[in-house]
Amino acid sequence: MGPSKELIEEKIRAGRDFVARWEVDEKLFGGYLTDQEKKLPQPPLVKAPMTDRAMDLPKDFSALDISTDFLDIINSRESHRVYTGESMTLTELSYLLWCTQGVKEIRGKAYATLRTVPCGGARHEFECYMAVRDVEGLEPGLYHYLPMDHQIEFLSAPDDLEGFVSDSLSGQTWTAKANVIFYYSAVFYRAEWRYGITTHRVLLIDAGHITENMYLAATSIGLGGCAVGSVEGDLCNSAFRLDGQEEAMFYAMPVGRIRAEDRTEEKAFYAFVEKEGL
Ligand SMILES: Cc1cc2nc3c(=O)[nH]c(=O)nc-3n(C[C@H](O)[C@H](O)[C@H](O)COP(=O)(O)O)c2cc1C
Repeated sequence: MGPSKELIEEKIRAGRDFVARWEVDEKLFGGYLTDQEKKLPQPPLVKAPMTDRAMDLPKDFSALDISTDFLDIINSRESHRVYTGESMTLTELSYLLWCTQGVKEIRGKAYATLRTVPCGGARHEFECYMAVRDVEGLEPGLYHYLPMDHQIEFLSAPDDLEGFVSDSLSGQTWTAKANVIFYYSAVFYRAEWRYGITTHRVLLIDAGHITENMYLAATSIGLGGCAVGSVEGDLCNSAFRLDGQEEAMFYAMPVGRIRAEDRTEEKAFYAFVEKEGL
């Protein structure tokens, strides 16, 4: 026997309220102040390096063949789940990281980072991690992006990287064939300091900007990827050494090399639509 109709309705209502009724109830929360309003110290703008193994990424993108036809990029953006198995260059990886989380400027003395994506209040409460499977010059394994210095740091090399990727994304085996799988965590207090109890809905809105920039950046250099919402949080938190409370993984995007010939195979992911006459 499955869950009761009432329980399902309650869960649906809670989800709808999270999206549509986020305003603070004055009766319950009247007089509420956020930590910023209480003048409590601001948390760091980015996570400190987790290791002493940081390496610089190339910042010169002139070697890349970057399309500047904006409308063509918009029109050709689509999800790609079939990858060729050819390597990605370090410059391509660097470009993708820059376009999705790169720090362009600091607002004030150290109030906020201004990045290549917008973010409510410029809190940029996200950290980007990677499972690198096939990038020239990089040992396969788990990495962390250090946006202040546009560096990456090597964290670890799981025995079965592809198995980890597939398991971490709810058994979607195609994800493990991408060159790089980008994983995004939220460092909650970075945004809660300013927005308190109203943080979390905007946090999810902001995450969409990161992956949309990833789609467009990948398209602009002939790569392809697919956002993935079904992230196995506990597995990712443990692999990337996050506590799951202050910082938790919640979103991912595999990106890889693609070719036009694989379009038919790509279409097979949605073959059920035709088969079931939907
Ligand atoms: C937040 C989000 C989560 C997604 N999660 C998955 C996923 O887990 N697996 C998958 O195959 N596609 C996933 N997708 C891709 C969508 O299925 C895809 O965007 C949609 O089918 C439209 O196709 P298009 O991106 O080619 O326009 C996700 C997309 C977004 C934006």
